[in-house]
Amino acid sequence: MLEMNYGCGSTVNPRDLVNSPNILYLGVGGGMELLQFAYFSRKPKGIIGVDVVEEMLEASRQNFREAEIQNSWFSSEFVELRQGDALNLPVADATIDVAAQNCLFNIFKAEDLKKALQEMYRVLKPHGRLVLSDPICETEMPNNLKNDERLRALCLSGAMPLKDYIRMITGVGFGMIEIRAKRPYRVLAPGQYDTDKLIFIESVEVCAIKDPIPADGPCVFTGKTAIYYGNEVFFDDNKGHTLLQNQPLAVCDKTAAALGALGRDDIFISEATYFYDGGGCC
Ligand SMILES: C[S@@+](CC[C@H](N)C(=O)[O-])C[C@H]1O[C@@H](n2cnc3c(N)ncnc32)[C@H](O)[C@@H]1O
Repeated sequence: MLEMNYGCGSTVNPRDLVNSPNILYLGVGGGMELLQFAYFSRKPKGIIGVDVVEEMLEASRQNFREAEIQNSWFSSEFVELRQGDALNLPVADATIDVAAQNCLFNIFKAEDLKKALQEMYRVLKPHGRLVLSDPICETEMPNNLKNDERLRALCLSGAMPLKDYIRMITGVGFGMIEIRAKRPYRVLAPGQYDTDKLIFIESVEVCAIKDPIPADGPCVFTGKTAIYYGNEVFFDDNKGHTLLQNQPLAVCDKTAAALGALGRDDIFISEATYFYDGGGCC
């Protein structure tokens, strides 16, 4: 499974996996993350694995058999494999608690990406979670690379800027977004690829929650933190946010902007760290 790991981060986070959830994993690869999910959801058909390529399904099926031998807690019955397309998921509406994909959505161009996200939204229960791991790129990708199907399939040239990626996700209705990690991934260098500029690619881990979008827009946590360092025991903005003296509070970008707009000299607001691990203002 490790040799067949084609992901660019992790979508498996115990925080999402309480109460033995129903999981959908799209783009199974060698099956490693499905095995990891199975650890938290030990029930027959607890995980639906969907892939469009029969050979990939067969490879993961074989790996699950081997995993059964090596892990006494695991049974292949925990995973149900279905052949199907990300753009037309063979999964019923509102039946999934956690849907995941790793290094698949970046291969899609905008129209297909929108459809794939809409499909994930459709199958998730209300408040369900979509967990994604994908490359992103802040440098404008040259068109010749963008349209190179082989490079796209290698997860190298479909990457888009993080803001656009988030806008696509909120655009289909997800009201809460968590950027959980961002790290360096690849470099496309002149001489090795058909580009005259160096292209730096990162990978992100994102969780999108199927909560309604608030009237003032989606809550996006990019890893910003507010700390009140005034002389009182706490600061209350009377809008639902209480900052205890010298205690960090994770804030979404909207709250960070609202606190910043107060113009106070006793509230520190950090830059985005792209590391959000729960809790906070919303
Ligand atoms: C880069 S691999 C990632 C595999 C796995 N998620 C991992 O992290 O190792 C992409 C996977 O998505 C599958 N795939 C490609 N296009 C698909 C589509 N339209 N619908 C469903 N699966 C697709 C491929 O067969 C492959 O298993």
